[in-house]
Amino acid sequence: MEVAVIGAGYVGLVTAAGLARLGHTVRLAESDELRLAMLTKGESPIYEPGLQELLSEVIQSGALSLFSSNLDAVRGAAVVVIAVPTPQSASGAADTTIVEQVVSDIAPHLDLGAVIALKSTTPTDSFTRLQETLDHHSKGGHLVINPEFLREGAAVADFLKPDRIVLGVASDGAVERMTSLYADLGAPLVVTDPVSAGIIKYAANAFLATRISFANAIANVCEAVGANVRDVLLGMGFDRRIGFHFLDPGPGFGGSCLPKDTQALVALADEGGYDFALLRGVIDVNQQQMARVLSKVRRALNGSVAGRTVGVWGLAFKAGTDDVRESPAVWVAKELANEGAVVLAYDPRARVVDDGITQVGSALDAVRDADALVILTEWDEFQTVSLGELRTTMRGRVVVDARNLLDPEAVRRHGFTYLGVGR
Ligand code: UDX
Repeated sequence: MEVAVIGAGYVGLVTAAGLARLGHTVRLAESDELRLAMLTKGESPIYEPGLQELLSEVIQSGALSLFSSNLDAVRGAAVVVIAVPTPQSASGAADTTIVEQVVSDIAPHLDLGAVIALKSTTPTDSFTRLQETLDHHSKGGHLVINPEFLREGAAVADFLKPDRIVLGVASDGAVERMTSLYADLGAPLVVTDPVSAGIIKYAANAFLATRISFANAIANVCEAVGANVRDVLLGMGFDRRIGFHFLDPGPGFGGSCLPKDTQALVALADEGGYDFALLRGVIDVNQQQMARVLSKVRRALNGSVAGRTVGVWGLAFKAGTDDVRESPAVWVAKELANEGAVVLAYDPRARVVDDGITQVGSALDAVRDADALVILTEWDEFQTVSLGELRTTMRGRVVVDARNLLDPEAVRRHGFTYLGVGR
């Protein structure tokens, strides 16, 4: 099938390469010249495990071709996937200005009966406006809400082995074509109306965020009563209805989705007259969790970090990605600098430009003569650093392990004060 994909961000690029791998002829349009230049050289502008290999394969085979113009890309396409940013507006709701601009630009150039699949979650009022644009300016284009459930650091795997495909349609015209688009994935298909499709995406992410904030809150209870959160979550997780996934305490959730989608869902519910207090609580716990990490460092350094050197391990919002959007690690590092600490940070992949954060080339460089170490992203390599070398490299003896990555007893045996999360 001839498919156009608009936007080569981590959703659009993975979707385009994945659809090309499925045998479709994919035309990918990207407006950012730098990003397009890298893609034209066959280089992936983002780091995702397996993406570079997949991209090279489908570009070499000719299954995937690149365009700077949306209009050129959509010509002859049976399906147009739109994966452009929907940033958070002031109210928290998704801002669909870019999506609406793209649809009105391409509408007159769409083939008869083309399907426009929106990867970005779209509020109801803008869905209606978009369908009207298609009704008035295209040859009967069908609009579909087709949310993505890709995790950063696992996006290619999640595309090729999805738990489910969700389609939000206002008419049956698009179902058959979208079903054949994804047929080779063999995943369960949930076909519903556009509003429900959008709520599936928001509710799934909100529930994942709720699990994380619950785990963090239970960790804080464990600290308050002297329990061990690892054992508590183990004892809970054997209950098949609870399980073990997504219950790892940490510095809070970050990334380009959970923070944005939780705020958007609270705003959406509020617009409809429902105060989603539970989800507001999840968001509050999350922000407090980052502040708790900061206060642990402050307390361990006798009440102030001013003038002290703090080594930070991890800046990415989670291991396996170079993405620092809404990263709790970056928030903590910046706050430490704002309070006068000298902040040395190391992350295997992520980079930040900030006057207050000196990024160095190794985990040990980040703790040289440091009064404290704060572990904020769960990169495996942090578990391989020799505790003996850590002791001789650091000046101080404080380790705040916000990911419960190290063995507390081993760290304490090396003369450190170990502060974990919930243990
Ligand atoms: C998320 C959803 O998982 C995905 O389905 C959706 O499509 C996009 O948003 P992503 O943002 O890539 O994916 O990351 P995810 O793996 O969900 O982690 C989000 C944040 O929660 C990270 O900061 C991570 O460190 C944190 N987290 C995750 C925890 O603190 N504890 C956990 O147990 C799991």
